[in-house]
Amino acid sequence: MSTTTLSSQDHIKKAMACFGTGVTVITTHHDGQDWGMTCNSFNTVSLDPAMVLWSIKNSSSSHAAFSQSTGYTVNILSLEQHALAMRFAQGSHAERFSGLKLIRMTDNRPRLDGALAWFDCSLHSKVTAGDHDIMLGNIIDCSSQTDTAPLLYAQRQFGTLKPWQA
Ligand SMILES: Cc1cc2nc3c(=O)[nH]c(=O)nc-3n(C[C@H](O)[C@H](O)[C@H](O)COP(=O)(O)O)c2cc1C
Repeated sequence: MSTTTLSSQDHIKKAMACFGTGVTVITTHHDGQDWGMTCNSFNTVSLDPAMVLWSIKNSSSSHAAFSQSTGYTVNILSLEQHALAMRFAQGSHAERFSGLKLIRMTDNRPRLDGALAWFDCSLHSKVTAGDHDIMLGNIIDCSSQTDTAPLLYAQRQFGTLKPWQA
């Protein structure tokens, strides 16, 4: 198996950054504590059954919590929630949730009030893939609103949608 060198990792990361995504905060509740992290590897997998995925770095401090809990809630951030993207990428997990209005989902999972959309999922399986694990989930429930702009991320910058006008 080949090893990816540091310089080639930078090369890959630069190319991957050209793929624009939405921004999510994925949350769970484990061992009496709320856990949450910013994530842009979220994607759809299947409609029947309804399934999604995201990937978590093995070295993440929340890896055990997400692996051992029964599921996770995906919060799709709106533009107005841009500050949450960096808040949920650093600091203690308790600080990340401090002062936020939370709605409790299955197994006490916290959902962030005001998200553009959310998916509450049970953990289907975990697939080990290099230095990340792919977290496959079955959608239990979801909801969305369309009157708010999405937060988007591309080329290491946050922004929002500029619709194409021919
Ligand atoms: C825009 C953005 C997207 C991110 N996407 C992911 C991701 O898909 N998977 C991941 O493991 N980390 C991702 N991160 C990094 C995690 O949010 C960060 O490493 C984590 O919250 C660190 O805390 P922890 O180790 O305590 O979980 C992303 C960060 C940002 C800012």
